[in-house]
Amino acid sequence: MKIDKNVENDGVIFMSIKENDEKAVETSADDNVTILAIESSCDETAAAVVRNGREVLSNIISSQIALHTVYGGVVPEIASRKHVEKINGCIRAALSEAGLTLDDMDAIAVTYGPGLVGALLVGVSAAKAISFAKNKPLIGVHHIEGHISANFIEHKDLEPPFVCLVVSGGHSHLVVVKDYGEYDIIGQTRDDAAGEAFDKVARAIGLGYPGGPKIDKAAREGNPDAFSFPQAKIPGAEYDFSFSGLKSAVLNLINQAKMQGQELNQADVAASFQKAVVEVLSGHAIRACKEYGLNKLAIAGGVASNTALREFLEKECVANNIEFYRPSPVLCTDNAAMIGSAAYFEYKKGVRFGLDMNAVPNLPLGDRERRYHGRSSNQNTNQ
Ligand code: KG4
Ligand code: ZN
Repeated sequence: MKIDKNVENDGVIFMSIKENDEKAVETSADDNVTILAIESSCDETAAAVVRNGREVLSNIISSQIALHTVYGGVVPEIASRKHVEKINGCIRAALSEAGLTLDDMDAIAVTYGPGLVGALLVGVSAAKAISFAKNKPLIGVHHIEGHISANFIEHKDLEPPFVCLVVSGGHSHLVVVKDYGEYDIIGQTRDDAAGEAFDKVARAIGLGYPGGPKIDKAAREGNPDAFSFPQAKIPGAEYDFSFSGLKSAVLNLINQAKMQGQELNQADVAASFQKAVVEVLSGHAIRACKEYGLNKLAIAGGVASNTALREFLEKECVANNIEFYRPSPVLCTDNAAMIGSAAYFEYKKGVRFGLDMNAVPNLPLGDRERRYHGRSSNQNTNQ
C-alpha cells in the first residue's frame, strides 16, 4: 500500500491510500460492479471506490485522531460535526482519484452500524441522498463485516470458509466465515474489547490516546516477561475473551508501585500487557482453526495492526500448518474500501436497502435475519 498524507489546517489528517498495481484483479469489463462506499462510524470520515469487491480504485481517509487526543478519547459530538464538514470532500476525492463520476457507480454503500449514532447518521444521510438523487441502489454494511472483508482486498485469492479474529476498539469476536456475508460467532468478549483494553491501559501508564499504537511502539523497548499478567479462561466458553481482569491487574500493579514509591518501567508494563493479550487472542484463534478443521486464519480490526500480534500469529500459523491472512495496517483500521468490499458480496446476493435505512448503533453481527430487521435480502426497494 502507498499512503499519501497531509495535515489540514484543523489538524485532521487527510490520507489517500493506493494499492500496488500488480495486485489488480483481471476482469472482463461487462462483469464489473463499481461501488462508492462511505464510512463514518467513529472518528474517521472515509470514502472509497471499489471494483468487484477486491480492487480498490481509490481509498480516502480523513482521520480526526489529533482532534480527540486532547480529550483522551473520541468525543462523539465533535466526531459528528467533523464528519459533516469532511464527508463531501472525501466523496469528491474518492471519485476524482478513481477517475469516475457518480453516474459510473453501480451502487452506493455505507456503514449503518454498529458505531456512534451521530457519526453513523452523517454517512447514512450522505449515502441516501446520493442514492436518491442518482437513482442508484443503496447497500447498508455492518462495520465488522467490513473489517473482515479488508482481507478480500489484500488477499485476492482468499475465499471462505476461514476463521477470522476480529479485534477492534469496540469488538473482540472469533468468527467462522462460512461464506461471503455468512458468519458463525464462536467467541466474543465478556467485558472490554481488546482495543478498549489497549486504550485503557495506555491511559493508566501515561501513554495517552490512541492507546493501541502507543503501546505497540513502547513495547518494542520493553521486556515482555518483566511482569506476569493473568490470561482469563472462561469455563464452558473456551473461545470467549475477558480483558477486565488483565486491565485490573495492570492498574493494581501501578497503584502498588505508587504506594511503595517505586517507578515502573513504562515499556516493560506495555510489553508484558501486550504479551498477555497477544497470547490469549492467538491461542483462541489457532485452537479454533484446529477444532473447526479450517487451515485459513484471517485477522481484522484496528488491533490486527499490532506488530506483536502479527508476528506471533505468523509463527504460530507456520508451526500449525495454517495459512495466515492479514490486511496491511491501514486496511485494519477504519476505512471505506473494506465497506465497498463487503457491499459487493451483498450486492451480488441481491441485497438492496430502502431510503428508510437508519443508523443502528448496536447492530448485531451474524444472524442475517436479525441483522436485516426482517428485510428480505432480495428486497429491491430503490431500483
Ligand atoms: O477498527 P478500529 O480502527 O475502530 C473500531 O472499529 O473500533 O480500531 C480501533 C482500535 C483502538 O482501540 C486502537 O487503540 C486499536 O484499535 N489499535 C491498536 C493498534 N492500532 C489501533 N491496538 C494495538 N496495536 C495497534 N498497533
Ligand atoms: Zn472499526
